[in-house]
Amino acid sequence: MTQDELKALVGQAALQYVVPGEVVGVGTGSTVNKFIEALATVKDRLPGAVSSSEASTQRLRALGIRVFDANEVGELSVYIDGADEIDGRGHMVKGGGAALTREKIVAAQSRRFVCIADESKRVEVLGRFPVPVEVIPMASARITRQFAAIGGTARARLKDGAPLLTDNGQHLLDVSGLAIADPMAFETEVNQWPGVVTVGVFAHQKAAVCLLGTSGGVRTLT
Ligand code: 5RP
Repeated sequence: MTQDELKALVGQAALQYVVPGEVVGVGTGSTVNKFIEALATVKDRLPGAVSSSEASTQRLRALGIRVFDANEVGELSVYIDGADEIDGRGHMVKGGGAALTREKIVAAQSRRFVCIADESKRVEVLGRFPVPVEVIPMASARITRQFAAIGGTARARLKDGAPLLTDNGQHLLDVSGLAIADPMAFETEVNQWPGVVTVGVFAHQKAAVCLLGTSGGVRTLT
């Protein structure tokens, strides 16, 4: 199976976690795009979704799925999203699609995070994928030095030669060279650095379930 087929497989499998009659939290990325396509087939049974990015919002609306502002609804039963890396305990690196801040917000609003990913995303130790960090622009040089002090190399994410602007109007650093042995401690520490908006390690908002697409089918990791 191709990677695209594996993404479609887990996107479809995630439907079993969607609670009829309840608003669902929807993440961002190519795997989630497959989930959104599957979600459209059951849209008549749902009030709608809370979305983690402008990109997902556009896709949801294009398929006739209502999108609620996060402040309009209470706790969500489930949040479905992809990951750039996931370890055996459900800790993830996320933000490859630049949506990490809103992803963390919607995940925090949800009782259960269901991660959908192809098997290439499963790792033993987080950090091979450069960790995205959303930052306030005036702090980016200092935060870059703080990462250097712990062995990380931070590079500004660019688009058309200029710093990429997130949906929140901020900048992104991608930090390579880290081996994150303790994701919870790492997330807690980096979150406290002045100017960090969100660090793309999801340990406090880890996945309760991971639907992993493999050549043998969907493996459910809990
Ligand atoms: C976006 C994300 C995505 O979930 C992550 O990048 C995985 O994306 P894909 O499903 O395209 O591999 O965190 O900010």
